[in-house]
Amino acid sequence: MNIQLSEEHKMIQQAARDFARNELLPGVIERDETQTFPKEQIKKLSELGFMGMMVNPKYGGAGMDTISYVLAMEEISKIDASVSVCMSVNNSLVCWGLETYGSEAQKQKYLVPLAKGEKIGAFCLSEPEAGSDATSQSTTAIDKGDYYLLNGTKNWITNGSSASTYLVIAQTDVSKGHRGINAFIVEKGWEGFVVGKKENKLGIRGSDTHSLMFTDVKVPKENRIGEDGFGFKFAMSTLSGGRIGIASQALGIASGAFELSTQYAKERKAFGKPISDHQAIAFKLADMATQINAARLLCLKAAWLKDQHGDYTEAGAMAKLFSSKVAMDTTIEAVQIHGGYGFVKEYHVERLMRDAKITQIYEGTSEIQKLVISRGILK
Ligand code: CAA
Repeated sequence: MNIQLSEEHKMIQQAARDFARNELLPGVIERDETQTFPKEQIKKLSELGFMGMMVNPKYGGAGMDTISYVLAMEEISKIDASVSVCMSVNNSLVCWGLETYGSEAQKQKYLVPLAKGEKIGAFCLSEPEAGSDATSQSTTAIDKGDYYLLNGTKNWITNGSSASTYLVIAQTDVSKGHRGINAFIVEKGWEGFVVGKKENKLGIRGSDTHSLMFTDVKVPKENRIGEDGFGFKFAMSTLSGGRIGIASQALGIASGAFELSTQYAKERKAFGKPISDHQAIAFKLADMATQINAARLLCLKAAWLKDQHGDYTEAGAMAKLFSSKVAMDTTIEAVQIHGGYGFVKEYHVERLMRDAKITQIYEGTSEIQKLVISRGILK
């Protein structure tokens, strides 16, 4: 693997860093407190091409590689993980899924506005009774000839109310198990589609997470993605790349907390010297830096493999498993280094600690990542 960043990579990284400092930092505490979706910020992010980073320019995307995506995700997540989850779902679940598996007509109609950031997408797999066990879909899509009739409830859907385009996974033939599952493109506003309650969350509070209800929603046949029965593989394959995005989000949360802690430790004095001169703190910073560097290498390795068209499923799961643990461990230490200041909102690290937790849960819990990795090892 070549880990030398190109000049273009460095420019993208700098652009993301500047954007995060100038556009996301002001107001991030308020948005977290009031659970306000960062609508204006997402609009500006799309002007940088960051909502469809890896999509081919012929479909309105920025045509960047996955390494660029990891770099941008890290910088955005250092400041605002509520923005980066919206960016990650749109890029690696919705846009990638449509570009890789959608028909030309689906790409023209749905991918182009998503890649340009004119619309936001959501990926709807989880259900009240189907989280980790994704084959147990109880949402049904019954074939009625020209259309499918969609019924069921989806839970924990990121971009739940801000999205316009929803990729919905549903069971069309229960007797076929995972081969009876399909993925559909559903538009907001279709009769029978209701956006349910917004979740009041521990972290990523600026992102809008909702349940969604479908009652006799007519989905045109041409909105099924891929061949009949392809839906489960569509979801799994899409999540393999999505996990690189969430791994990078976790990396950014960790490196954001680390940067704040280093700065604070140099400024804060105790017992007559900066606390960074006390080994109790200096050793914590050394551990944090080592873990973050290792997480970054795993994220870049997974991204590099994806860019080389290699098999990146295990590498992505490893990056997510490790980076999300580093995010949790680092942010807890960051609060500790800040002492009492770490426990109040103005110093940001308590928010980063709350945001870190979700990275061990969504797009597959840490236990699911271990399952994916161990299956890869043992196959
Ligand atoms: N790519 C392509 N195909 C894949 C695949 C992949 N990465 N992983 C599995 N498949 C295929 C298998 O080859 C198999 O096909 P065949 O039967 O033809 O061989 C089929 O899918 C079934 O695979 P498994 O037998 O491995 O399936 P399983 O039932 O044992 O489940 C699992 C595997 C890993 C546990 C899976 O259910 C899983 O990943 N669960 C977690 C779901 C998840 O991540 N949910 C997150 C929700 S989305 C979200 O959080 C977004 C957000 O808002 C931020």
